[in-house]
Amino acid sequence: MPKTTRQALMRIPSSGYWPLVCEYRFLTDSLDFARKAFARAGPVSRGWWIFRPSIYLMSAEANELVLFDREGRFSAKQGWDRILAALFPRGLMLRDGEDHRWHRRLMLPAFRHQALQRYLERMQPHIERGVDRWLASGDLRFYPEIKRLTLAIAADVFLDAQLDAEIDDISRDFSDLVAASMAVVRVPGLGRTWTRGLRARERLVHFIQARIAGRRQGEGRDLLTQLCQARDENDQQYSDDEIVDHMIFLMMAAHDTTTSAITTMMHALARHPDWQQRLRAEAAALPQRPGMEDLDKMVQCEWVFKEALRLYQPLPTIVRRSLVDIELHGVHLPAGTPVSVFPILVHRSPLWWTDPDRFDPERFSPGRAEHRRHPFAWAPFGGGAHMCLGLHFAEMQVKAVMRQVLLRCQWQSATAQPPRWQYAPIAKPVDGLPLRIMATPAGQGAAIAA
Ligand code: HEM
Repeated sequence: MPKTTRQALMRIPSSGYWPLVCEYRFLTDSLDFARKAFARAGPVSRGWWIFRPSIYLMSAEANELVLFDREGRFSAKQGWDRILAALFPRGLMLRDGEDHRWHRRLMLPAFRHQALQRYLERMQPHIERGVDRWLASGDLRFYPEIKRLTLAIAADVFLDAQLDAEIDDISRDFSDLVAASMAVVRVPGLGRTWTRGLRARERLVHFIQARIAGRRQGEGRDLLTQLCQARDENDQQYSDDEIVDHMIFLMMAAHDTTTSAITTMMHALARHPDWQQRLRAEAAALPQRPGMEDLDKMVQCEWVFKEALRLYQPLPTIVRRSLVDIELHGVHLPAGTPVSVFPILVHRSPLWWTDPDRFDPERFSPGRAEHRRHPFAWAPFGGGAHMCLGLHFAEMQVKAVMRQVLLRCQWQSATAQPPRWQYAPIAKPVDGLPLRIMATPAGQGAAIAA
């Protein structure tokens, strides 16, 4: 960072955190971290990321300015590269401008309605086996269980791979890779988290590389085959390396975030049995083999999904680097400023939400529509050119899982204490969410038709 930029950034009000303390506090409790920074310095404040100044932008207006970014004044690549480049190089989120548009366009058909319908059919037997397993356990820690299930689904739908013996190893590799994205010591051999992340990436690269050659010609319908065979209007394709990078990024983007969302929904519904019952009745009204259109009828489930994402935003911050000088809330940000927006804080702002810390899914109902008070007050999927490509996939998967769970199980928290939440890098309950899961009268015996 040029000296003049650094000097300009040092004039921005401090968030009150010193280097290292800053990263530590962010990692241990991102919400409390953001609340304190906002209370001390307002919507624009200066913090740190690995000894370099980083500017926090904490308002719906900032979300809009940075994420919508119609004029291309921010770089996603330069923002994410400093955190993710060694671990998820050249993933879609780490690209800008025409390069990003080309890569996204080629990927789009794999996320269209028809493809989603195929994925839905494919994920049902996995969900059925997952629910069997949970019912057989009774008391369990839900987070590792759902993580296992979403990874098995991703492996099948994305790679046409049935992970049985390998599932724990691959799951550990993804966890190590994601954990490494928050490592402060980034020297191979010195930082343990970092080194483990790099090794995990190596193994995943081999795992995917080994499957590419066959898919260039194959007739499969999995996502990898679609990426291997995608062509633009000039007959251009992704290279093998690009496919590896996209697949590792997609597997991470898909399974950790959805795992987080389903976990928070299960947590909320364990504490709100009235909502559990409402959603169960809604799920029971669907046909035996629901398609995408049927899942659209799970309207209240969608409110609970949205409310879970609001309260426990899977990705607490989104980063960029400014490419030009910017003025925001009366503060001057020179070109080259690393910025982080904090949807996690805006999601709890009393400016936009009534009683923001309360679980109240009806705030998303058409009659109240609190999320419409500002287009970026609710931004769990980001917005603009980099808006989550998998948001419909995520919603479909969440509903498919919740439908089977609601019809076959009832559950409650297995501890009196509310779980402590770790928000970064991706939100999860520190204790793994102990739940007591029992069969509903309708769910005893045979599985609900998948
Ligand atoms: C609840 C689940 C999910 C949440 C909360 C979520 C959140 C996000 C957010 C906030 C971004 C934007 C990051 C930025 O602007 O820098 C993003 C991008 C992305 N997500 Fe998701 N995501 C979820 C599920 C998924 C799934 C299931 C997939 C794939 C199947 C996926 C694939 C992607 C991709 C490819 C991008 C990059 C898009 C681009 O840069 O053009 N996500 N996601």
